[in-house]
Amino acid sequence: EKGEYRHYMQKEIFEQPAAIQRTLEDRIDSPQSVSDAFGERATAIFDQVRTVQIVACGTSYHAGMVARYWLEALAGIPCQVEVASEFRYRQHVVPEGTLFVTISQSGETADTLAALRDTDSNNYVGRLAICNVDGSSLVRESELVFLTKAGPEIGVASTKAFTTQLTALLMLVMALGRRKGMADEKIESILNELRQLPNLIEQATSLDKPIEQLSRAFVEKHHTLFLGRGVQFPVALEGALKLKEISYIHAEAYPAGELKHGPLALVDKDMPVVAVAPNDELLEKLKSNLQEVRARGGELYLFADRNAHVKDGEGIHVLNLPAVPEIIAPIVYTVPLQLLSYHVAVLRGTDVDQPRNLAKSVTVE
Ligand code: M6R
Repeated sequence: EKGEYRHYMQKEIFEQPAAIQRTLEDRIDSPQSVSDAFGERATAIFDQVRTVQIVACGTSYHAGMVARYWLEALAGIPCQVEVASEFRYRQHVVPEGTLFVTISQSGETADTLAALRDTDSNNYVGRLAICNVDGSSLVRESELVFLTKAGPEIGVASTKAFTTQLTALLMLVMALGRRKGMADEKIESILNELRQLPNLIEQATSLDKPIEQLSRAFVEKHHTLFLGRGVQFPVALEGALKLKEISYIHAEAYPAGELKHGPLALVDKDMPVVAVAPNDELLEKLKSNLQEVRARGGELYLFADRNAHVKDGEGIHVLNLPAVPEIIAPIVYTVPLQLLSYHVAVLRGTDVDQPRNLAKSVTVE
């Protein structure tokens, strides 16, 4: 079943262009078809939405964090995101007009499911599940469903489920945005970006060889720091989660602006720093954060837009990505970080598809 691939995770990384294509198919022909993708009752429910509460775990939670940046910036809709194990056990206020959204690959994650079940007593305008498994508990118990069509994900480390979740969430932003007066031209321009996505992901996977080379520098390390700013911060979090999960190297992610509030103290030559630097409005700020790392002797590994003009230098290793439209950039920049953790894990000889202590589906608390 793995075919030419050595591990399921590797196969699943390379399947992402096709998985995203399937997720988009027949759903992005027009702004109306985007709403229809959320089910018959979507329009009536979306009309009442004033705010969004996202609940998920692990990688799916990171997808929710990206969605928050998009929802607030593109659609002007306030959004809260929380890990299910916290959300379900605390008293929370539900603002009027809240849409409850769960994100899950399996649809069986105990905490996410329990959080959904608890919504019964609350005034949500509706419950939407973004899920990869048709017929799963989450899907059966939600009135709105968007199925990501990633296909079975076998590797414990989530890859194609994450990028298809992001694709689905960007469609949700458009579907909700439209009801809030987001202009059709804006929606069309996002749709155009989405149409380029499978191809851009494909281009990102072609960095496999150079990333494999670069991964050698991480094998003997004990810690790694991931940096991103804005919508790329959750991408950095996801990169750190992948690395710790399959290579067992301790990794942390920080929004780059927080460096000098603590983590900079950790940086020395033994602490590689990975940063995602798309060509966005935060690039200049990120560059100055990276200077701070260099000044402490930290080795920098940068995934950067080729138009960002960041150059290789002493202690600075740059891998260029194609020019990516800003909105979909977090989806594309996820891929090199998946490849990096994959190669580091292979070199360290861990069980990539079945990392120790972890289960694919966390059905107990
Ligand atoms: O099936 P789910 O998406 O609900 O699973 C949530 C997490 O358990 C999952 O994403 C986990 O964090 C992955 N192993 C990360 O790669």
